[in-house]
Amino acid sequence: MDFCSMLCCVKGSDRKKQGKKESTWRIFSLKELQLATNNFNYDNKLGEGGFGSVYWGQLWDGSQIAVKRLKSWSNKAEVEFSVEVEILARVRHKNLLTLRGYCAEGQERLIIYDYMINLSLLSHLHGQHSAECHLDWTRRMNIAIGAAEGIAYLHHYATPHIIHRDIKASNVLLDGDFKAQVADFGFAKFIPDGATHVTTRVKGTLGYLAPEYAMYGKASESCDVYSFGILLLELASGKKPLEKMSSTLKRAITDWALPLACERKFDELADPRLNGKYVEDELKRVVFVGLICAHSQPEKRPIMLDVVEMLKGDKEKFAALESEEMFKSTQVGEESSEFISDEKEPKQEIENV
Ligand SMILES: Nc1ncnc2c1ncn2[C@@H]1O[C@H](COP(=O)(O)OP(=O)(O)OP(=O)(O)O)[C@@H](O)[C@H]1O
Ligand SMILES: [Mg+2]
Repeated sequence: MDFCSMLCCVKGSDRKKQGKKESTWRIFSLKELQLATNNFNYDNKLGEGGFGSVYWGQLWDGSQIAVKRLKSWSNKAEVEFSVEVEILARVRHKNLLTLRGYCAEGQERLIIYDYMINLSLLSHLHGQHSAECHLDWTRRMNIAIGAAEGIAYLHHYATPHIIHRDIKASNVLLDGDFKAQVADFGFAKFIPDGATHVTTRVKGTLGYLAPEYAMYGKASESCDVYSFGILLLELASGKKPLEKMSSTLKRAITDWALPLACERKFDELADPRLNGKYVEDELKRVVFVGLICAHSQPEKRPIMLDVVEMLKGDKEKFAALESEEMFKSTQVGEESSEFISDEKEPKQEIENV
């Protein structure tokens, strides 16, 4: 089946209400996107990721969009691209970034999203907005729960179920109300081989990769749970997933957080930018849930549905978690030793977060 006939087959139900958001995806013309982005002007560029460059744009109706432009393409992947984008365009949830459509003309492949005015969580924790302190505790808690709900939807309710594979702070975008919008789900297969800042074979970002995924490339829902755990620790502490200790050594956030959590030193765990303004019970939840999610053994990690409930304050589940053996001992350091030396990753191009 060619590209156009495939579109005709699946376009029929795209305006029906599905889930919590109305689905209104469509196909864009290259001309329309060139106009919206001032011909992909450098000034419109929001950033660059594994897929290619992302540009800000404005459509004729005034709405703001973000346009992802794939940097390299092979004809082989043509059919896969359209099918996959259409599946993803139908996934709708209040905490998943809305995909507005795509463009496939000649060699150009572009994906169009709603523009998120408050950019990414990364920009607030470690980037251009980090000094402005927009993320008070209430916002952080809402982001944690919202992002967890978005991922839980991908894992448990989307058809087919979707593994994200690249949960990280730059893929959690923030709308005008600082509501979390998880981005880039399901796009792992569009990252061109060798043309990416992420690991070449394993899709993901160092610091967020579950050990079994990094070592054996075995992707599963629990790899996303691991990455989400790292994200929770990052959100609570304001620290990066890997902290530079020397020119070659980095410390994993889990190795730093676990002993402090065991000793219940929440004032040391909390992001200093919060100035002590946080709800201790909630911070405790975020940290403990973050640590169990980022457990080195996948079978010890919870599923995202339980993560949502624990973050929302399910007392029974949280009590069981708090009494886990790992929170009683202060033995750490074994589990992430594979990940802290740059020298151990000689063949992979890796984004340092
Ligand atoms: N819809 C959007 N609204 C606002 N900013 C966006 C949007 N989509 C992407 N960005 C920003 O553009 C930049 C590039 O995004 P991109 O997704 O290509 O790279 P990344 O998130 O760093 O890595 P990855 O390729 O692994 O997702 C990031 O800073 C991202 O936060
Ligand atoms: Mg991204």
